[in-house]
Order: sequence, then structure tokens, then C-alpha cells
Amino acid sequence: MSKEAVIEFKDVNKVYGENIAVEHINLKIMEGEFVCLIGTSGSGKTTILRMINRMLKPSNGQIFIKEEEISELNPVQLRRKTGYVIQNIGLMPHMTIYENITLVPRLLKWPEERKKAKAKELIKLVELPEDFLDRYPYELSGGQQQRIGVVRALAADQDIILMDEPFGALDPITREGLQDLVKSLQEKTGKTIILVTHDMDEALKLATKIVVMDEGHMVQQASPTELLRQPATPFVQKMIGEERLIQARADVTPVKTIMLKNHVSITPDRSLNDAISLMRQKRVDSLLVTDKDNKLLGIIDIDSLNNNYRKHLVVADILNEITFYLEEDQLLRDTAHRILKRGLKYVPVVDAEGHLKGIVTRSSLVDMLYDIIWGSQDMEETL
Ligand SMILES: Nc1ncnc2c1ncn2[C@@H]1O[C@H](COP(=O)(O)OP(=O)(O)OP(=O)(O)O)[C@@H](O)[C@H]1O
Ligand SMILES: [Mg+2]
Repeated sequence: MSKEAVIEFKDVNKVYGENIAVEHINLKIMEGEFVCLIGTSGSGKTTILRMINRMLKPSNGQIFIKEEEISELNPVQLRRKTGYVIQNIGLMPHMTIYENITLVPRLLKWPEERKKAKAKELIKLVELPEDFLDRYPYELSGGQQQRIGVVRALAADQDIILMDEPFGALDPITREGLQDLVKSLQEKTGKTIILVTHDMDEALKLATKIVVMDEGHMVQQASPTELLRQPATPFVQKMIGEERLIQARADVTPVKTIMLKNHVSITPDRSLNDAISLMRQKRVDSLLVTDKDNKLLGIIDIDSLNNNYRKHLVVADILNEITFYLEEDQLLRDTAHRILKRGLKYVPVVDAEGHLKGIVTRSSLVDMLYDIIWGSQDMEETL
């Protein structure tokens, strides 16, 4: 694939009166890169993103998209090139989900048929029912709104996607699902994505390049592996997190240290309707099934529910056996590789008696692996 810089910042500053929002920003983003901007609150991340979209004008310096200075592009040309997910979702309350998704295609004057087809495709992608297109944002849960916000950026098929904390208020499993979706879409389509986050786990998981911001300055640009190996400043070290750096030196880590306890479970005697409402309420796509003593019996997921749904059935009737689980005292280095190879979103963790204790998610593993298991090898190759 030929590589050209799709976005380039040349010594860009943005000031508000006496206040410097960002300063001396020099950044080259190549085609197909997944760039994560990370930094503390107020460090200038949103400012950088908005200048790319020309929602803000630089005070000094220049920004180029595909070698054209953006101040010379007209707004329609710019919209054809870049899609945008704003911080805090940003759905228009007085527009239906359909109107929200097709906002930019409408500005670009797509024919009705093409807009409809695109909206249907996208709503399917985030696993929401098609009739949600006719609803208003307030008729959706916060997480559902956020999913719409994310896919909306894909609606107009632009090559550059800007995302400002798109996964902020989601529960860990939904967040991970959306992260996987965005990552795989990016790999498939070769789009260039610039995503702002506070979350180092997210940056390590998604980025090909991480840009660390501190008080308006870019303090480091590096691949995730480089960043972990050679944090440029104490601030970067702090962003990576002491825990992660200590663990990088640790030899043995048991499963329970990275286990999460936010799993959702159900007993086998409950009805499928109960299972469905629990999934909706917790916004998950699978439930672990445990008996009244909390022993792990199996799992049900949205697919088996859809395929086998009948009103009188109970959870026990459609239960799938768990083929892979972990014991809390097993060592991660012995098990992690197998989890990743299987491509599971999460794996249940039990104690020696088979009681459900928690789950291990893929993203919590990935950053551990950087540190512990492969150490000096290149992670991207191994996955
Ligand atoms: N319109 C404005 N007028 C004055 N100062 C502003 C304005 N907009 C932003 N700033 C300042 O510019 C700096 C950078 O803001 P920016 O929104 O880019 O931060 P951020 O990194 O996105 O933060 P957060 O993580 O909280 O979203 C902040 O100090 C902010 O107070
Ligand atoms: Mg911001």
C-alpha cells in the first residue's frame, strides 16, 4: 500500500487570549493509521481534533489534508473527507435516529434510497433492531445512543474518521464490543482514524500510533510497543500507569489479578423473557448461567436466544456448555495466549469448586501481554 500523509500539522498553535490551548503541534498521520490522542483533561485533545475538521481555526501554523491546506477547502469538500463523532455523543434530540445517522449524507445530497440502505446497514452493524431508526434519541438507552453516535461517523464513507471519546459511558463489555468493531472496520476499510481517549487500555488496544498530550504539548508519538518500552517523560510513565510498569517486571501473574467482577449471570429456572430483559437492562449480549450456589453451569447468548426463542422455554432449555474457562489461580502466561487465539470476548473465571468468580476480558489481557509474556517481541505479529 502506498503511504502518503493524509493529515499533517505544521507548527500549529491555538490560543485563546492569554491562554495557550495547544502549542507547536507537528504531526504527520499516514494513510490507514489508527492514531489515539491521549492526555489529561484540558491537555488539548479536542482542540486538535476540531482543528482538523475546521470547527476551530488555528491561531498559527498550517494543517493539510492530502496536501491541501484545509483553510482552502470548502465545507462540503471537507465533509466528504472527514467523519466526526463528538464528545458526549452529540445526537440531535429533535431528529430521529434515521435522521441523525443520515445527517451528513443529507448534506451531501445523497438520494433517499442510498441513505436508507446505509442507515439499515449501520444499525445492523451495532446490533440494534431496524425499527429503532424511527425512534428519537431519548427513546434509547445511553449506551445505545452512543453506539449510534459511533456508526454515524461511518455513514458518509469518508476516508478520515475523527472520534472524541466515543466509548466513554459504556459498560466494559459493550465498550469492548464497539472497540473491536471499530478496529476491525478500520483494518478492513483502511480508513484513517484519529480517536481521543482518556483510557490507556483503549489506546494500547486500538492504536497503531499513540500521541501523548500534556498541557497543550505533544510529549511523545510512538507505537504502543515503543511507548511501553520507552516512555519519553515521567508524565508518559504516569499515563501508562505504575501498575502496568511494575507488572512488566513481574514474572508470574495469576488470572485473578486482572479478573473483572462486573459479569452478569442468571439462574437456569428463569424464563427466556427474563433473560432478554436482563440483557437489555445490562446491555450485554450474553449471560453466564449459575445455580443457586453460584456454580457455573453454562452460557446463553443473544444468538441462541434469537434462534430458539419460544415463550414457555426457560434458560436451562437453551443453555450452552462452557467449553473454556479459567481457574482464578492459574497463571496468565499459561493461559492468555489460548484466550486470544480463540478470539473470545471474555472468559469466565471459577474457583477450585467451580463457583463463578468473575471474567477476564480480551482488552485486560492484551496490555498484560505486552508487558509480561512477550516482553521484547512485537505484539502485533503474535496476535
Ligand atoms: N473556547 C475556549 N475559550 C477559552 N479556552 C478554551 C476554549 N476551548 C478550550 N479552551 C481551553 O483549551 C484547553 C484545551 O481544551 P480541550 O477541550 O482541547 O481539552 P481536552 O484535552 O479535550 O480535555 P477533555 O479531556 O477534558 O475533553 C483547555 O485548557 C481549555 O480550557
Ligand atoms: Mg475533549
